Amino acid sequence: MGKPKVVLGVSGGIAAYKACELLRRLTESGHDVRVVPTASALHFVGAATWSALSGHPVSTEVWDDVHEVPHVRIGQQADLVVVAPATADTLARAAHGLADDLLTNTLLTARCPVVFAPAMHTEMWEHPATRENVATLRRRGAVVIEPAVGRLTGVDTGKGRLPEPAEIFEVCRRVLARGVAEPDLAGRHVVVSAGGTREPLDPVRFLGNRSSGKQGYALARTAAARGARVTLIAANTGLPDPAGVDVVQVGTAVQLREAVLKAASDADAVVMAAAVADFRPAAYAQGKIKKKDGQEPDPIVLVRNPDILAEISADRPRPGQVIVGFAAETDDVLANGRTKLKRKACDLLVVNEVGERKTFGSEENEAVILGADGSETPVPPGPKEALAEKVWDLVVTRLN
Ligand code: CTP
Repeated sequence: MGKPKVVLGVSGGIAAYKACELLRRLTESGHDVRVVPTASALHFVGAATWSALSGHPVSTEVWDDVHEVPHVRIGQQADLVVVAPATADTLARAAHGLADDLLTNTLLTARCPVVFAPAMHTEMWEHPATRENVATLRRRGAVVIEPAVGRLTGVDTGKGRLPEPAEIFEVCRRVLARGVAEPDLAGRHVVVSAGGTREPLDPVRFLGNRSSGKQGYALARTAAARGARVTLIAANTGLPDPAGVDVVQVGTAVQLREAVLKAASDADAVVMAAAVADFRPAAYAQGKIKKKDGQEPDPIVLVRNPDILAEISADRPRPGQVIVGFAAETDDVLANGRTKLKRKACDLLVVNEVGERKTFGSEENEAVILGADGSETPVPPGPKEALAEKVWDLVVTRLN
């Protein structure tokens, strides 16, 4: 088998220079990459750079090497087309099926998965014309990843930054690995919670837990690569934002509940991977709690936190929504899992055994996914991404 063929479309935005690093990552990991820039992209990075880095000729128009019919061949032969950066203009031309240069011709002839990594000013990204074009492309099965928030060209900051090349590369790798042109979560909105909540005692201390957030982030990344619009509610993870995902940072269980309920109102699926504190201190000391000479400390009084999973499972903000919980258990894993599934009334419960050296912070996970329909899906030890893919497989079956 030859190297996977990737077409890297580059459109005319300042972030075009970042596509050089994406190209490097793709070629160094064994992909045969053909760069198809737009004419305006060449104002930012010249053809010589793309040609030298890819080892292929570079052209923006359909009129070069006409005998090889490049406007049809390049798209037909591709295993993946990724457009990074995708400007508002390129998204518009793609959404409307225009074919006025080599890149748009390639997009029309490609039958492989297509990933767009938009980059533009916040106003352009939020303009109703762009919103509609993005929705059209997603509906047709393209993976349009969400731009990152941060510094834009000049002094502006906001949403519209091209995600880091390493993150776009990860999306490409996942989409290629799945190898299906129609991503099965396209057009869906999914909400994932990740990390562990912290319940403050005073301005410097909190009650927390050891959840790293890695499983939740793996769920968010894999869903984005399967075409979903993803809202990731992250509690105290310290992890970098995954490409193509809207991240909402929270601290406590109460804040997590508010963020989940807000995002869940139009979600097709909600996956509660966060470790939510069941209790919080009844009182919060405005000043640091000091030790007093010769006195024992005051006991900490706790009150119950809301059970977010049970609440959304009971209320289902949107009919037909699929709700997934996680359960970390140390003993009688399956029996406790079944009881918890019933009690929380969710559709799926991912049960894993935890202990000092198991699961927390590690790159691997092993679990059994219990279904409310009585199903039991064991997932062998493996990367957290593999477990995430399995969870989405089961969610997709239930959504359809
Ligand atoms: N969860 C939640 N809200 C809470 C506690 C937990 O939404 N206040 C969710 C978690 O995100 C997870 C699932 O419920 O998806 C299981 O949480 P777990 O803490 O294991 O279950 P508990 O209800 O706390 O049961 P127990 O303490 O008996 O283990």
